[in-house]
Amino acid sequence: MIKPILFLDSGAGGLPYYRDFHIRNPAEKLVYAADRENFPYGAKDPSLLISLLTALMEKLINRFDPRLVVLACNTASVTALDHLRSSFSPLPFVGTVPAIKPAAEGSRRRSIGLLGTARTVEDPYIADLAARYAGGCSLSALAAPDLVDFVERRLEDADEAERLAAVKPYVEKFRAGGADAVVLGCTHFLLLADEFRLAASPDIKIYDSIEGISRRIENLSNERAADDSSDAAFAIEKNLLVLTGSAPPEKVWEKRARRFDLSLCLLNAVKPETSP
Ligand code: DGL
Repeated sequence: MIKPILFLDSGAGGLPYYRDFHIRNPAEKLVYAADRENFPYGAKDPSLLISLLTALMEKLINRFDPRLVVLACNTASVTALDHLRSSFSPLPFVGTVPAIKPAAEGSRRRSIGLLGTARTVEDPYIADLAARYAGGCSLSALAAPDLVDFVERRLEDADEAERLAAVKPYVEKFRAGGADAVVLGCTHFLLLADEFRLAASPDIKIYDSIEGISRRIENLSNERAADDSSDAAFAIEKNLLVLTGSAPPEKVWEKRARRFDLSLCLLNAVKPETSP
């Protein structure tokens, strides 16, 4: 039995990444963990976020013994990826980083926009990324905590008009600033990708990192599969949606579990499994 691949986000944001990888690799055993208890990550101080993520990762590794971890969260990736890699070496981590490079390559007006959490847009990593891959482009970065919250708590109950209305003000700000390429730099926004594309058409192109991440996971996980096939510690019948915190799953999580065909459980209720 092969060890699972673990996806982690503060909430629902990583689900589009999970889905893309799952569709391409239906035989893989996957665990999707939503850190509901510590949502939102975007407003947290970096050192607090690093310690929360380190403690959570330890628990998740104990329970599921993954062969690879996908940090399906830009905020967690820019803040804690290096720390997690060195703390849990040799376990491989795939991080999600805003698709600034392809956006810069695609921008004819040399003007790109980045929409993320406050934590992400203010992290020096973003300035580095822009200096390395978007030299010659102007970059305007906006934080959208209200949109993160909308996706996390209200998306499933909102109709199409409400969803469009939620993304439009951001697209309009980027349009007014002259951007013709906008990067969705928070995984939650991927759940509104269709609405973003509708509002941005025809003059602005929307960029995300989903496909690149799936390819990266495939390459890394195939390298590891042979080594990790003999001692899988956790037998998973169906892919899991694991929630942190002790409150019973809210209705919205039940809906998501059905929509993404995942088996819903609480991390605290999952027993460490020792049988091979
Ligand atoms: N989904 C996360 C990201 O990609 C952040 C959401 C939050 O603030 O927790 O940045």
